[in-house]
Amino acid sequence: MEGITKTFGKVQANKDIDFQVKFGEIHALLGENGAGKSTLVNVLSGIYTPDSGSIFIRGKEVKLTSPRVAIDEGIGMIHQHFKLVEVMTAQENIMLGQKGSHFLHSEALTQKITELSERFQLGVELKKKVYDMSVGEKQTLEILKVLYRGANILILDEPTAVLTPQEIEKLFQIMKRMKDAGCAVVFITHKMNEVLTISDRLTVLRKGEKIKTLETKDTNTRELAELMVGHPVDLAIKRVATTIGATLLKVKNLTCVNEEKVQVLKDLSFTLASGEILGVAGIAGSGQKELCEAIAGLYPIQSGQILFK
Ligand SMILES: Nc1ncnc2c1ncn2[C@@H]1O[C@H](COP(=O)(O)OP(=O)(O)OP(=O)(O)O)[C@@H](O)[C@H]1O
Ligand SMILES: [Mg+2]
Repeated sequence: MEGITKTFGKVQANKDIDFQVKFGEIHALLGENGAGKSTLVNVLSGIYTPDSGSIFIRGKEVKLTSPRVAIDEGIGMIHQHFKLVEVMTAQENIMLGQKGSHFLHSEALTQKITELSERFQLGVELKKKVYDMSVGEKQTLEILKVLYRGANILILDEPTAVLTPQEIEKLFQIMKRMKDAGCAVVFITHKMNEVLTISDRLTVLRKGEKIKTLETKDTNTRELAELMVGHPVDLAIKRVATTIGATLLKVKNLTCVNEEKVQVLKDLSFTLASGEILGVAGIAGSGQKELCEAIAGLYPIQSGQILFK
């Protein structure tokens, strides 16, 4: 990608960005929130048309005027929010919108998909309905879908945000197999440890600009943090001595249901004292947002209590 510029109103999401990814490498795209990572890969996958700039694949200029054109050029994007039809099976989702998709269950097609799944050890159960799948399984299905469409440049936009540590390990193995098969893999994250674990090279973006591309083996957390924010960062957190005081917030047996009547918080209890920082850990979508909103009075409570002071 050469000189990619993309603006949204007054925001310059990408400013004159040069970015190159090689076949056979995992290339991490790193940057803070709003740095322009998603915009750049959305340009690469034909979702956005850049204001200016050019894209070349194997040295040949391509005009990626739509996602369909991009996929025909071998570019496949795994979105953070999956685009799957819940009531259909894995195989039906893969075949959807494909030429000859009215032969959804033909033997030859099943065999082709099975071979691909086995080759990359994806373990997708082709007859399973999407609504019966875990988040990790859905993501693997998305990967199989783009591989089936012939993608050899694979883009994963923050794929690990929704995964458990075990699922992340499995995804990294799949990414390595894609790289070994000669694919170019673009991996977006803002977790530095993941970048250092899995990527061969990385590119740092900051406020819409490309700051630097470097070999992963030549860098470290400290340098990456500095490149990301633009000034030296002290990564050693000084723990100030505090005295834990009286209980300020008490959450007792809190249960909330969403609009679909699904329990998003189940019988949750904890206390928070003055002078204390309470961490809430969990993969995205585990109820963190609903918890914060319920405490702030923005989310309806089905049962339980929130006591302040
Ligand atoms: N469709 C859009 N309309 C308006 N502004 C947008 C749009 N997409 C992105 N932006 C803006 O462009 C800038 C870059 O956004 P982008 O989503 O590319 O960042 P990012 O690096 O992917 O961030 P994050 O880590 O939060 O996903 C931000 O200021 C964002 O608000
Ligand atoms: Mg993004």
